Amino acid sequence: MRIEIPRECERLGAVQIYGLQKVYELAGGRDFGNAEPSHSDVIRRISSEAIYERQKDMAIVVPVKNERLKLIEGVLVGIPHPCQIIVVSNSSRAPVDRFKIEKDAIQNFCKFTNKRVMVVHQKDPGVAKAIELAGYTELLGEDGLVRSGKAEGMIMGTLLAKFLDNKYIGFVDSDNYFPGAVHEYVQEYAAGFEMFDSKNTFVRISWHSKPKVMESSLFFAKWGRSSVHSNRTLNRLLSYFSGYETEVVKTGNAGEHALTLDLALSIEYAAGYAVETHHYINLLEMYGGMLPQSDEGNEIRDNVTICQIESRNPHLHESKGDEHVEDMIDASLSVIYHSPLCPELLKREIAEERAQRMSLAEAEGPAKVKVYSNLRNLNLDTFLEHCDAAFSSKTEALSLV
Ligand code: GDP
Ligand code: CO
Repeated sequence: MRIEIPRECERLGAVQIYGLQKVYELAGGRDFGNAEPSHSDVIRRISSEAIYERQKDMAIVVPVKNERLKLIEGVLVGIPHPCQIIVVSNSSRAPVDRFKIEKDAIQNFCKFTNKRVMVVHQKDPGVAKAIELAGYTELLGEDGLVRSGKAEGMIMGTLLAKFLDNKYIGFVDSDNYFPGAVHEYVQEYAAGFEMFDSKNTFVRISWHSKPKVMESSLFFAKWGRSSVHSNRTLNRLLSYFSGYETEVVKTGNAGEHALTLDLALSIEYAAGYAVETHHYINLLEMYGGMLPQSDEGNEIRDNVTICQIESRNPHLHESKGDEHVEDMIDASLSVIYHSPLCPELLKREIAEERAQRMSLAEAEGPAKVKVYSNLRNLNLDTFLEHCDAAFSSKTEALSLV
């Protein structure tokens, strides 16, 4: 892969946010050793060997909820072979056991590819028990099982990635129509970790375009409706602290992202549509140096690097209607609005713009969303031990293909 080096960087305390990086070549060729031909200083070449080395320590979590099998299979086709795949499914089990059908299809697929795939249901009682014994009960519902929702599935996937001893974790949705796009995201995750080789690296993808049919021809839109709002508001927050206007944040809503497992185990996940924006907010809260830190904050002063890469494939996923756009905007602005970092001035702006957008008589901030505390509150050793037991007893819902 060939990627331009970032042009800009905003620093707040220990957080470094690098500007968007363009991809110039999807495959950059193999390692040339000492005889590597020289190339421009502004383009970084990342060899296929370097990408392989990162991917063999990487888990890719694929959240699924009642998606079409053809779509799921396409996503698996796109994930590079060295990666460990973890499918976390919350598909229905009755009247038709869709989960079983998914598991059979994936198992069959694995016969052809020999891929490392773990398939687990979000309501698996063995994993829930391990989470409960490890003291992280906030993730569990009244039935003692992991709550429904994509963010909850992501947290479960994070824990399983740790269980399987991975160093990096990436996420790709299961409703992506293009295996080539999925492949590109995972290559870019690896490239990001190669370029920013640190304990706390966060790689976020900004889609180059999203195809839409407009008046019977194709139109390639650049920004989704809700990402415009979250990016602008996050940039305003940064500008407030630095005193300089900035547009550095382009991935406030990036569902396609990857991070070091160390970092994944120490940041908060918000529920629902707020999860991605909250990652930025939580990193700024914890590492930005603007808020007073508790004593346990001492060991978390390492730098955090956020790297943003612009993918080349168009992004096309299953269309589930547009009616949730306002909820999505509300959720992602909510975590900014309710953060202790958010200055009064920005709160007022968020509320006023919201009133205008939704034609409300009074300016009011968005409702608070649920935020899960970070996984440092879970006893990892206890979790791993009981997860091991869940595996070896081969509970029906948990299978390692
Ligand atoms: P959008 O792309 O943000 O509009 O949201 P989607 O509805 O496409 O969901 C994103 C991904 O999360 C898809 O792959 C869904 O199948 C998956 N998903 C949605 N809800 C859940 C859930 O409760 N649990 C899990 N594990 N995955 C979910
Ligand atoms: Co989708």
